Amino acid sequence: MRHFTLQEVKSWDRFYRGNFINSISGFKSVSLIGTVDSNNNANLAIFSNIVHLGADPALIGFINRPREASPHTLSNIEETKTYTINHIHADFLDKAHQTSAKYKKEESEFDKTGLTPLWTEDSKAPYVKESSLRYALDLQEIIPLKQNDTFLVVGAIKHIYVPIVAIQPDGFVDLEKVGSLASLGIDGYYKTSLLKRYSYARPNQDPTELPN
Ligand SMILES: Cc1cc2nc3c(=O)[nH]c(=O)nc-3n(C[C@H](O)[C@H](O)[C@H](O)COP(=O)(O)O)c2cc1C
Repeated sequence: MRHFTLQEVKSWDRFYRGNFINSISGFKSVSLIGTVDSNNNANLAIFSNIVHLGADPALIGFINRPREASPHTLSNIEETKTYTINHIHADFLDKAHQTSAKYKKEESEFDKTGLTPLWTEDSKAPYVKESSLRYALDLQEIIPLKQNDTFLVVGAIKHIYVPIVAIQPDGFVDLEKVGSLASLGIDGYYKTSLLKRYSYARPNQDPTELPN
């Protein structure tokens, strides 16, 4: 194993450093965030810094990069207070990745990539039709992070669409069955494979495996 100091890391080329640091926090969920502005112009972008914040109320957070770098999702959410999060599967991964390109505000990534906007009664923002697990959120709070000009966007889940076959008797949603992908860094994508599930851990008791 090789030891690196911050001083050494700082001396690296910025792309090499970005890839390295972006990888070590580990595998992440990766999804497409669908939004509209106040004139109903749709926008779609891929995000991987998405995190569960709590189950009751059901809150999800995501990190938006500095406004200059990733402007449209953030400004649309500020305008319309709503957005959808859509899982990504292998059959449209290339299109999903392409949404990270810097398209102009008036250009919709749906049109540019060929992904299909799905408009419903329950959400002002479009879902992605190709996605098998999707949910809609209402904005709760946008917290600016002073250290690096990023934003923690906090949303409350309002509607969820999940294939019934993936829902286990205890409520666990087996995302492997849905074919949802995971990501690493900003350009690596992974299929998943369940190792084990365990019962609730208690002090001084050996963990027991749950049946699949
Ligand atoms: C795999 C992957 C993950 C990404 N994750 C994020 C993220 O979590 N937050 C972010 O602000 N940008 C992320 N990006 C970059 C955005 O997709 C990109 O800046 C996009 O152009 C933003 O579009 P918008 O301005 O339409 O919101 C990611 C890009 C890729 C390829």
